[in-house]
Amino acid sequence: MTRMNIKVRTRKTLYVGFAAAALLGGLLVAAACGSESGTSADVALGETIYVEGTDAQGAQITHTTEAGILSQAGCYACHGTDGKGRSIDTKLGQFDAPDIRWSVIGQPMQTNGVTEPPYDATTFARALRDGVGSDGDQLEPVMPRWQLTDAEVNALIAYLKTL
Ligand code: HEC
Repeated sequence: MTRMNIKVRTRKTLYVGFAAAALLGGLLVAAACGSESGTSADVALGETIYVEGTDAQGAQITHTTEAGILSQAGCYACHGTDGKGRSIDTKLGQFDAPDIRWSVIGQPMQTNGVTEPPYDATTFARALRDGVGSDGDQLEPVMPRWQLTDAEVNALIAYLKTL
């Protein structure tokens, strides 16, 4: 099969301070994470969307599908349960679903030697709804376009921060 859209990234070593911050108590954790940090309800909803592709009422979230693949799946089916991405085979060839942990896409990304800007809440929502990457380019149609509310987008961000 043709191999398309190969995203090769170098990863920065990241310091994860959550364990230490947790020891200092909830208030400090909230301060360390800033105002964008989600509540545990956000994280739970984000996980539901990520794994099941369903909303808070258990209904499938409307999204496009390319080549009829994985029509009922959540994000994990392509991006992996760990969010680190993986290679997926489709009728149209092989695609690499990239690492979408927030610790990676919330930073400038080195892709095939080109630096792409980090995602923020606005550009992440645009990627999910309209299929536009952080650099303004169209994402491959194999990445579904999802009809998500702002609350659902924020819940996904909160969950991706835990991966
Ligand atoms: C059918 C497989 C599939 C599913 C399901 C899927 N994705 Fe993707 N996603 C991809 C592929 C493939 C790409 C790479 C597209 C490209 O580079 O043009 C991608 C790209 C992305 C990007 C852009 C990353 C970057 O490096 O610019 C984000 C963000 C993303 N997906 C989030 C999600 C989220 C959140 C979900 C669930 C709501 C999801 N995806 C579900 C296949 C999938």
